[in-house]
Amino acid sequence: MSTALPESHPLADGRTASSALVLAARRQPVPHTPVWFMRQAGRSLPEYRAIRQGTAMLESCFTTDLVVEITLQPVRRYGVDAAIFFSDIVVPLKAIGVDLDIKPGVGPVIAEPFRTAADVDRLRDLTPDDVTPVLAAVTALTGELGATPLIGFAGAPFTLASYLVEGGPSRDHAQTKALMYGAPDVWHALLGRLAEIAGEFLRQQVLAGASAVQLFDSWVGALPARDYREYVLPHSTRALAAVADLGVPRIHFGVGTGELLADMRDAGTDVVGVDFRVPLVEAARRVGDQHALQGNLDPAALFAGRDAVDARVRQVLADAEGLPGHIFNLGHGVLPDTDPDVLHRVVDLVHELTAR
Ligand code: CP3
Repeated sequence: MSTALPESHPLADGRTASSALVLAARRQPVPHTPVWFMRQAGRSLPEYRAIRQGTAMLESCFTTDLVVEITLQPVRRYGVDAAIFFSDIVVPLKAIGVDLDIKPGVGPVIAEPFRTAADVDRLRDLTPDDVTPVLAAVTALTGELGATPLIGFAGAPFTLASYLVEGGPSRDHAQTKALMYGAPDVWHALLGRLAEIAGEFLRQQVLAGASAVQLFDSWVGALPARDYREYVLPHSTRALAAVADLGVPRIHFGVGTGELLADMRDAGTDVVGVDFRVPLVEAARRVGDQHALQGNLDPAALFAGRDAVDARVRQVLADAEGLPGHIFNLGHGVLPDTDPDVLHRVVDLVHELTAR
């Protein structure tokens, strides 16, 4: 595959090109179904809680050694088929000077919410110099991970905008929708800026060594498809287009997006992430056979005991039977109280049941 990747990139020099994750994303035959978990690096791991003692979340994200170690923890423990880069969707915003914090148990909180055209001008371009310790972690991880691909990620324009406009997490996205429907020019200007920033952040992670990317549009399920197409799709498309020439697999995921799957596919992705509300067979009907699917075990089901967990893993795999490509994952992130042994069991079971 011809790409603009540096020759020493793990996807270009062959290290990750035949990994199960990359093959599945490209809808090629796999040795086994690849599995990784959204939020695999995080509070469910005792070694994570130990190393994070006394360091705030955002500070951790800009501390190279911590990012490397936390990213590797779940790979070591579970034998997952990919590492997800330890960071947060608001890291590039912090890096360009937006006054924000990540409050434990709450999420990102923005000091001065974005509501006007003048606010849009507070978002400047992201340059590699803004995220030097972050990119240093990507490079170091690429060396450590060998054949295991590193997934870089960014928040999609809508989800980033929802934090910026609301000032923090929101249930109903009322201010976000007020801006979107009431001041569409400001909305499109804001999302255009965020698409540039997200796309650039993805591109920098890939050039530093990430072998795949995921664009998280976690909260876009709050929109009907017609509004998604008008107010969001062009911007998510632009963010994903920023890495198109690099030839790395792209994954696009959101929560509660059953009604949006075909439109999210059209943003220019190789893999459509599916949450736990839509069975993969049905998702495949909506997405078609030119894309791989990722998902979709309910993270809450991991508390149900071994037999129930096993049965639900088997159900997801049965639903995925015959898909052109499947990456096993949860339907959303690992919940903080999840027993790490249960996640380990899921990895082993998926590998065992799908070994070819
Ligand atoms: O393992 C991984 O998936 C990698 C790390 C990762 C984090 N955030 C670490 C984190 C990733 C991929 C994210 C992305 C992210 N951040 C998303 C998209 C994914 C999704 O869940 O839909 C969103 C919406 C955010 C915003 C955000 N940051 C939220 C909602 C929270 C949780 C708030 C809380 O404490 O309950 C955060 C904080 C956060 N991001 C933590 C971690 C490990 C918890 C902070 C801590 O451990 O103190």
